[in-house]
Amino acid sequence: TAEAAYALREDEAMPRHEEYANIDWNNLGFSPRRTDYMYKSTCASNNTFDQGQLIDYGNVELSPAAGVLNYGQGLFEGTKAVRGEDGRILLFRPDQNAIRMQIGAERMCMQSPSVKQFVDAVKQTAIANKRWIPPPGKGSLYIRPLLIGTGPILGLSPAHEYTFLVYASPVGNYFKEGTASLNLYVNNDFHRTTRGGAGGVKSITNYAPVLKPLLRAKEQGFSDVVFLDSVHKKYIEEVSSCNIFLVKGDVISTPSTVGTILEGITRKSIIDIAHDLGYKVEERLVTVDELMEADEVFTTGTAVTVANVGSITYNGQRVEYKTSDCGLVSQKLFKRLVGIQSGKIEDKYNWVVA
Ligand code: COI
Repeated sequence: TAEAAYALREDEAMPRHEEYANIDWNNLGFSPRRTDYMYKSTCASNNTFDQGQLIDYGNVELSPAAGVLNYGQGLFEGTKAVRGEDGRILLFRPDQNAIRMQIGAERMCMQSPSVKQFVDAVKQTAIANKRWIPPPGKGSLYIRPLLIGTGPILGLSPAHEYTFLVYASPVGNYFKEGTASLNLYVNNDFHRTTRGGAGGVKSITNYAPVLKPLLRAKEQGFSDVVFLDSVHKKYIEEVSSCNIFLVKGDVISTPSTVGTILEGITRKSIIDIAHDLGYKVEERLVTVDELMEADEVFTTGTAVTVANVGSITYNGQRVEYKTSDCGLVSQKLFKRLVGIQSGKIEDKYNWVVA
């Protein structure tokens, strides 16, 4: 079991790491920290992943001809482990990450681990690095599963070997704004993806192209970018690192996932929670004009959790939204989600895995 695998190595793990001794649990931010262990499994040409094992956290050796380096055959996932008040390690819907990785692997012509192997690898990584899980309320252990084409290729074709890696890092708030509201910039020159592309899966190739508009927006003091659809340039799609929702009256709307928008696990959890709290939720095409006229806007993602948006700037026009704590829909949803994730609110959905 994962506990047994950890127990075998616990003694070796403990003495290392000045970084651990110096960690400031109150100011974790979102940057990589070298934890103790990572999980690795390889799938060679027989199409089956080996049993996999925990290894010391460290650099990965790759052929310069590896599929991931040359043609971008790579997928990543993000999930979190938190410590419940009773000390238990709690994971949130890791099976959904596993399924999403399988769907992405099919799109990118890669072999993928089974749901069982994926979930077990995430558990093992969380348990092996359990001393890096922040104290309750201080953050979480962000777990990053990666699937990469490691076999060498030269002509354009799928690699013949894949590596499944899972590493972890303790994190706090994703945005430097902390829990303050975000100021978003609607970009209509760059597009994240287009119909028929790979925007609906968590391919690594979706993220580097976002950096240029993101950095430009940050230089101008914005927190992140809202991308528009590439055909009509009027429907909102997603923010570079998260999904987006708007509230108008008692209706919550979010762009439907039509292949260009990531199927966020937090996104779908928030939709279920919102329904159960009595809101009407619509998944549909949402125009940028509607966004500008909304009562409230928020974003969701594993890294981001639920983040309230304070302003949006589009075509030189800036609109501001309600951001006071009391009565915000995003606050209600955030509290319910985090309550379930941390074991404080009953998990009637069976989302939490202990
Ligand atoms: C996540 O929210 O977990 C993601 O993978 C988004 C990433 C850009 C941090």
